[in-house]
Amino acid sequence: MTTIPHSSDLLKEALEKKTAKIGVVGLGYVGLPLLQVFIEAGFQTLGFDLDEAKVAQLVAGKSYIQHVSDDWIHESVSQQRLEPTTQMDRLGEADAILICVPTPLTESREPDLRYIESTGNQIANVLRPGQLIILESTTYPGTTRDVLLPILEQSGLQAGQDFFLAYSPEREDPGNKQYSARSIPKVVGGIDAQSLELANLLYAAAVNETVSVSTCEVAEACKILENTYRSVNIAMVNELKMLFDRLGINIWEVIDAAKTKPFGFQPFYPGPGLGGHCIPIDPFYLSWIARKHDMPTRFIELAGEINTSMPDYVIQQVAKALNTAAKPIRDSHVGILGVAYKKDIDDPRESPAFRLIELLEDQGALLSYNDPHIPVLPKMRNYRVPSLKSEAITVEYLNSLDCLLVATNHSSYDWDFIVEHAPLIVDTRNATRDVTAGREKIHRA
Ligand SMILES: NC(=O)c1ccc[n+]([C@@H]2O[C@H](COP(=O)([O-])OP(=O)(O)OC[C@H]3O[C@@H](n4cnc5c(N)ncnc54)[C@H](O)[C@@H]3O)[C@@H](O)[C@H]2O)c1
Repeated sequence: MTTIPHSSDLLKEALEKKTAKIGVVGLGYVGLPLLQVFIEAGFQTLGFDLDEAKVAQLVAGKSYIQHVSDDWIHESVSQQRLEPTTQMDRLGEADAILICVPTPLTESREPDLRYIESTGNQIANVLRPGQLIILESTTYPGTTRDVLLPILEQSGLQAGQDFFLAYSPEREDPGNKQYSARSIPKVVGGIDAQSLELANLLYAAAVNETVSVSTCEVAEACKILENTYRSVNIAMVNELKMLFDRLGINIWEVIDAAKTKPFGFQPFYPGPGLGGHCIPIDPFYLSWIARKHDMPTRFIELAGEINTSMPDYVIQQVAKALNTAAKPIRDSHVGILGVAYKKDIDDPRESPAFRLIELLEDQGALLSYNDPHIPVLPKMRNYRVPSLKSEAITVEYLNSLDCLLVATNHSSYDWDFIVEHAPLIVDTRNATRDVTAGREKIHRA
């Protein structure tokens, strides 16, 4: 009598032999680089996105993410190692499905899980025995088990028996050249032991190191801890920046000195406010679930309060700086340098520059900007954005300004040139630290 191999054994074998087909849902800043890792490890992949424009671009061999090259997309698509598609009924073709859809906040700053839910429904429609589903989107502990699992089981199949379910947080740091999706250890938690084993096997085939934890909830909490840790520490240095400024002490010099301690101190740097899709948003996923358990999260709330107040502080410093030139903000030409949320990336999401622009417009400033990575200001859901094109940084442009506000310190900027030709500089990033000539024009904020 021949025994029929269990679906988990078949999947295990396919993962070990790299014959398993990997599907990634959500081809954004996280999903596209993740696909790249699996393709480079030798897997065939399917890339799913509802955005027809993105899929069409990939099919045409074009990338929309700065650190994923056109050449690589073109080669992967033409060799059929990457099949980008909007057809969600093809989810049944993938042996493993990694979910990288957005997890934003609602207007009332509560978790907005609609993208995870709709992806869950799309998968449930075609779920078949032997598939491994892994959620990678950042979310509060309990989402995989309490939200995604019941949706998937609407298919009539059972997790841990027919299909397998795990959570593994994406820990990408856009623009960081030192660490790639392959070299950042992958934390993995399964809904049960078999799901964990399979998920581990999958990642171990593509990344340098995996870290197994006992449950999905631990893996979910791990990601939120990492982001909350950053948010709280950034808030602390932002508050100290304002205090030290009153005391006439340069916070940047203090941090440089403190970080010479070889243990017990990790440097965090102040800035014009928090940006990006993670740090300003994710801690609120945790405070939401905490409220459900009647527990306040005071660190998170306080950090959020301080960090969101930073643009107001920066505008006060702009007003003070202009005052030294006997000018009001109204009708002053203010140039914003850098609108991406951090240096050397093209992602404007949640960038504090947009709040700075709103505040300056409210006070009647005449605005312009430069960002080599963002040629035109994009429309944003939460901000009023003027229609502006990035200005070239020329002597004429810098001379035409009353104040230049440094919001993002892209590496391509020539700070000596900028300080030489701008009449007044408000620097929120300590970008001009090494400039020696014209320091009297520079105001820290
Ligand atoms: N960007 C980062 O640096 C980063 C880092 C770590 C974790 N994360 C987390 O990863 C997740 C994804 O973030 P991102 O920055 O890649 O978002 P993104 O907006 O860049 O990409 C998400 C993609 O998902 C697609 N999408 C939405 N619903 C879909 C559906 N039902 N089916 C198919 N496609 C769908 C969208 O069209 C979009 O292309 C979020 O939870 C985020 O918090 C992001």
